[in-house]
Amino acid sequence: MNPVRVGLLGLGTVGGGTFRVLKRNAAEITRRAGRGIEITHVAARDVSPQWMAELGNTRFTENAFELVDNPDIDVVVELIGGYDPARELVLQAIHNGKHVVTANKALIAKYGNEIFAAAHESGVMVAFEAAVAGGIPIIKAIREGLAGNRIQWVAGIINGTGNFILTEMREKDRDFADVLAEAQRLGYAEADPTFDIEGIDAAHKLTILGSIAFGVPLQFDKVYTEGIGHITREDVDYAEQFGYRIKHLGIARRTPDGIEMRVHPTLIPHRRLIANVNGVMNAVLVSADAVGPTLYYGAGAGSEPTASAVVADLVDVARVLTADPGNRVPHLAFQPDALADVAILPMAEVETAYYLRMQALDRPGVLADVTHILGNLGISIEAILQKEPLPEADTVPVIMLTHRIREKQMDEALRQIEALDSITGTVMRIRLEDLS
Ligand code: HSE
Repeated sequence: MNPVRVGLLGLGTVGGGTFRVLKRNAAEITRRAGRGIEITHVAARDVSPQWMAELGNTRFTENAFELVDNPDIDVVVELIGGYDPARELVLQAIHNGKHVVTANKALIAKYGNEIFAAAHESGVMVAFEAAVAGGIPIIKAIREGLAGNRIQWVAGIINGTGNFILTEMREKDRDFADVLAEAQRLGYAEADPTFDIEGIDAAHKLTILGSIAFGVPLQFDKVYTEGIGHITREDVDYAEQFGYRIKHLGIARRTPDGIEMRVHPTLIPHRRLIANVNGVMNAVLVSADAVGPTLYYGAGAGSEPTASAVVADLVDVARVLTADPGNRVPHLAFQPDALADVAILPMAEVETAYYLRMQALDRPGVLADVTHILGNLGISIEAILQKEPLPEADTVPVIMLTHRIREKQMDEALRQIEALDSITGTVMRIRLEDLS
């Protein structure tokens, strides 16, 4: 059988890795796919002379649109990233009857519904394993491996850069900017690193996980997103004293009222395996009714780990190129006409436990005022810790853990606590999940 002809868009960290992995493992990949998979064309900008030499006989162009219009290409691999021109290129490739493999989480999270509808119309596949958690085959695991289950929740460390920063803060007391610069140097961080720090990159990935876990359309704009920029070294230490680690989690949970979709720093018990996922590594914990909890761990970013997922998608495409489109695995795990119209809950309706840190004047009755406010709003305290005042300071840090309560109740409690004369500044609130 003739090899599958692949056109590669982008020769950056992931594009370069994909080119090299496909070449190095060509024989093994052919044995798996049943036919060869060859990158016949590459479109990229600012390619180094070293790469030009490495490309050898591969046709090269700087014009990505020329590549997606080329009739001699069966599959387009989009590794440019970002919304534009990736969206136009992918839609044009689909319109031209080409299958698409992409690592572009932003594109799928925001325009996936439109892209899958176009792919359905044209009878082509759009594969996106590399869009979530890099090399971890989490899309395949949820979409195919767990297809017999009703999934209850998914919780993941799905941004390597953010996890690297939190880990280095906890273990080495390193400076935030210094760790971020290292992540950028290693090719882990996004082109705009605020996407990593503010949780936008994780929200893109969570959007995709939530859809394939629960069979709902992609709804990136409904994901609650909070970054890690405000987490202090003290919070990391206090969490540790209570037996917790702070992780930047993406959580998608099915509840009787709707689906929770949220990305925020989260305290999790340090004894959980996922609490011990450190550095740039990613992990996704899935709770499903038949199998129970399963945990998927691995490299969530980087050249060859992400290429591993891209190439696996290419093998999948090669295997089913000739299959009737109706018999292929649906893009969002559920048949397109069976996607459910379940509401995504606003954050005010989400229920979770909390870590609170406040600065209180060191005088009688302060704690009583705070606990009175919490009690009136039905918020139960799980643990409380008052630290020594710093030399010369007239306030003391008070740290509390609460039981689960709806976010809107906690918002009201914090409004009242911050209005007390005896509390200075704002109250630090970090959500806490037991993940049991
Ligand atoms: N910036 C992302 C991360 C790259 O740090 O995880 C992989 O999507």
